[in-house]
Amino acid sequence: MDIKNQIDKNNVPQHVAIIMDGNGRWAEKRGLPRIFGHKNGVGAVRAATEAAGEIGVKFLTLYAFSTENWKRPKIEIDTLMNLLIETIDNEIGNLNKNDVRLITIGNTSALPKNVQTKLKYAIDKTSQGKTLTTILALNYGARAEITEATRKILTEYRNGKLDEMSLSPEVFGGYLQTAGIPDPELLIRTSGEIRLSNFLLWQLAYAELYFTPVLWPDFSKDDFFNAIVEYQHRERRFGMTSEQL
Ligand code: FPP
Repeated sequence: MDIKNQIDKNNVPQHVAIIMDGNGRWAEKRGLPRIFGHKNGVGAVRAATEAAGEIGVKFLTLYAFSTENWKRPKIEIDTLMNLLIETIDNEIGNLNKNDVRLITIGNTSALPKNVQTKLKYAIDKTSQGKTLTTILALNYGARAEITEATRKILTEYRNGKLDEMSLSPEVFGGYLQTAGIPDPELLIRTSGEIRLSNFLLWQLAYAELYFTPVLWPDFSKDDFFNAIVEYQHRERRFGMTSEQL
C-alpha cells in the first residue's frame, strides 16, 4: 500500500511545523555553492505545501529564516531574499489554485524593503485561501517572540488592561505572533540535526518531534506522508497514563 493510503484521515494533525535544514550540505555534497541548495529547496517547499493541503492539514509553518541567519555571508542572505521574491512570483498562481493563504511570523519589518513589499502583495493576494494556511517564519526567533509578548503584557498591565491573576498560559499565548493559530501537533526537522534552534519554543510544548536524515532539497511528498504516519503511531498522553486515554 502506498504511504499516503496508510494515513488515517481522522487523525491528521491540524498544524505541522517544519525546520527545513540541510540545503547547504545538499549543495556541498555535489561540489556546488551553498546557494544551489537553497534554490533546490524551493521544490521541497512546494511539495510540503501540496502534501499538507492534500491530506487536510490546516496550518503549515516553515522556518525559512531565523534571527540567527543574519550571521551568514551576505551573498547567501541576499540569495535567500531574492529567492523569496522569485518564489512568490512563480508560486502565487499555484497558491491561489490550491486555495492556500500565506501569512508570516517573525520580525519582517527588518527584511529588505522589496521583500516586505512582495510579502504584503502575496499576503493580500492569498487572503481568501481556506484549505491551508502556510506560515513563513522569517527573521523569526522564539526567544524574541516570547520577550516581545512579555513586553506587551507589561504595557497592558501598566495601563490597567490586564491584572496579574488573569494571566494564564492561554492568555499569554494570545500575545504571541501565533495568536489564534492552534499549536503544532507535529514538528519535522530534516538533515539529521536533533535540536529546536529557537523555533516555536512555547508552541511546541506538546508536539511530537520527528527527525529525518533526508536533506531538505530531497524532502518529497512521501517523506511528508511518512512523518504523518509515524505521528499517528505515537501515543500522545499529555501527562496522563495510557489507561486514561
Ligand atoms: C537551512 O539549510 C535552510 C535555510 C536557512 C533556508 C530555508 C530556505 C529555503 C528552503 C528556500 C527558500 C524558501 C522559501 C520559503 C521560498 P542550511 O543552509 O542551514 O543547510 P546546512 O545545515 O546543510 O548548511
